[in-house]
Amino acid sequence: MKLFLASGNAHKAAELQALALAGGLNVEIVSARVVGGMPEVVEDTGTFVGNARKKALALRTKLPVEAWALADDSGLCVDALGGAPGVESAYYAGPQSDGAANLQKLVTVMRDVPDERRGAHFVCVLLLCGPDGAEMIFEGRCAGRLQHEPRGGAGFGYDPIFVPAGQTLSLAELGEVVKNGLSHRAQAWALLADWVRAGATVR
Ligand code: IMP
Repeated sequence: MKLFLASGNAHKAAELQALALAGGLNVEIVSARVVGGMPEVVEDTGTFVGNARKKALALRTKLPVEAWALADDSGLCVDALGGAPGVESAYYAGPQSDGAANLQKLVTVMRDVPDERRGAHFVCVLLLCGPDGAEMIFEGRCAGRLQHEPRGGAGFGYDPIFVPAGQTLSLAELGEVVKNGLSHRAQAWALLADWVRAGATVR
């Protein structure tokens, strides 16, 4: 069973590949590169589901009619910032910003926020788009808190500043195996896997 990944983010692709392998599912995550690359998508819907749908539909136009596209839209919601950066996580420090700049902006914005107000959660929406307009949506969340300083070298994005609930280390210190056991992406993937195991007609 193939799912064509509607993303150019190598980190997301690697995590989803690892989750697919670890789950023992007969699912292959196929890069958008095999159909010429992920089309440019403006993520302007204001919701994780809306942005995921735009990405999945954009790739779907390049796929065979029977194929399924898989989109991941995700982000970090910080309580003290009213849920920001949220759906804007990839562009927090500006339209051309990279992960390091976004992380640095969050560190700076949160500098004077005390420990008891540093709650946050990651959200991941996985959206499948298939033949005849078929659509499935799976959402995962990972609650935790923000450290004052980034720590650790694994993962990507905001991982170095985010400590999951029940842990003392950041996601970037915990590493891929632990992250894939508890992350927002892992939670969403688990729901998708349940759906596949229940006999979904994804080919
Ligand atoms: P998207 O491409 O609009 O889904 O943007 C996702 C952005 O959210 C990424 O660029 C990261 O900044 C952030 N993000 C999503 N998932 C993770 C994660 O697992 N770790 C760290 N940052 C993440």
